[in-house]
Amino acid sequence: MNILLVGAGGREHALAWKIAQSPLLTRLVAAPGNPGMAALCETRAVGATDVEALTALAREIAADLVVIGPELSVAAGLADALQAAGIACFGPTAQAGQLESSKAFTKAFADRHGLPTAAYVVCDEAAAARAALDRFEAPYVIKADGLAAGKGVVIASTRAEAEAAIDDALGGRFGAAGARVVIEEFLEGEIGSLFALCDGEASLLFGWAQDHKRAFDGEQGPNTGGMGTYSPAPVFTPALVEQIRERLVEPAFAGIAAEGAPYRGVLFVELMATKHGPKLVEFNVRFGDPECQVLMLRLKSDLVPYLKACATGTLKDMPPPVWRDEAAACVVVAARGYPGTPASGGEIRGADQDFGPDAVVFHAGTQRDEAGILRAAGGRVLNVCGKGPDLEAALATAYGAIERIEFADGFFRRDIGWRALTR
Ligand code: AMP
Ligand code: GLY
Repeated sequence: MNILLVGAGGREHALAWKIAQSPLLTRLVAAPGNPGMAALCETRAVGATDVEALTALAREIAADLVVIGPELSVAAGLADALQAAGIACFGPTAQAGQLESSKAFTKAFADRHGLPTAAYVVCDEAAAARAALDRFEAPYVIKADGLAAGKGVVIASTRAEAEAAIDDALGGRFGAAGARVVIEEFLEGEIGSLFALCDGEASLLFGWAQDHKRAFDGEQGPNTGGMGTYSPAPVFTPALVEQIRERLVEPAFAGIAAEGAPYRGVLFVELMATKHGPKLVEFNVRFGDPECQVLMLRLKSDLVPYLKACATGTLKDMPPPVWRDEAAACVVVAARGYPGTPASGGEIRGADQDFGPDAVVFHAGTQRDEAGILRAAGGRVLNVCGKGPDLEAALATAYGAIERIEFADGFFRRDIGWRALTR
């Protein structure tokens, strides 16, 4: 098979790494890809939202399948264009993609279809939003409505902080993404990320993991796109997984199909495991980043048939995926300043050495300069992953690999997996 993989982050590097192992693969092209992916496959300098050029590239390489990595490509309507061109695509249409691209849409969708989630109000005006805080208690949860790369959420411990967050978002900090804010009830519990595939009708659970969203150790600092993940995560008991399937996954796929936008691709259910059962925090219409990285390390089955089955409506014929009986962990190395303005251009040495059979480093935000030196080019720069017989071993492998990488501008959390380790 010829496959076009769209995206340039650590998630897409992990997908490329796994797809490259498939015996079904003839040719893999990544657009735009990154220096890490360039070591695995061809890359083409076509942006992830350039729908026309991506469609042309898919035609040029006679792609049997296009795999969409990032949400921005979904929101840009890439799946719609490919569908119109008769090219099989893993990834939902822009209409189905509204499950992620607007938090206000997601909350209303949850209400329409009876999905458990936090109580909320949506406001597009600061005075009304400030007044709406009366209906909630601290800590206040304030979210920019649109896509903000995981950075549009503030958990404010005081009313003053909540008001500042409202002013910040409605004042244009997130551009159009912050033109509306969602204020939400704070949910107590443990956070989790669960993945499910759908081909428009049939669906299949596809793994789960736990992410650490705060920038610093001890769950301190601002929210980020995710600073580290591990799988398996003990919060996912078989009973919880079953409840998530029944109360969130199946009604979501049925609901979006009933609204005329059958879902083809992977749905990422971010949930809080509360004492009243799982509650939806948000949907994402793509694999999690960096959840995908640990899933790919643990996935024993060939990934390609699952991606293809979602694109072609044959998922009901696929058996559940088989996972390695091992743990995997991913530690994000970010550039100083992230999730604000990250230090750009810092030199990285040693990221591409052989770390042994249990460690792999995915590139998330890197670039090679003209001299071939690897440099930071993003907030989250490297995803250093390890696997092993248990979580301790997986983490020791990942942290051991980090020690061997030189990146003066980088920082990372030293407590990934603490919830599982202190249980
Ligand atoms: P989101 O961008 O919606 O995934 O939110 C970022 C992070 O904020 C989540 O991973 C949670 O840890 C936290 N969060 C979001 N919504 C809530 C909520 N209603 N209650 C408690 N924590 C939340
Ligand atoms: N790690 C969470 C996300 O992909 O948004």
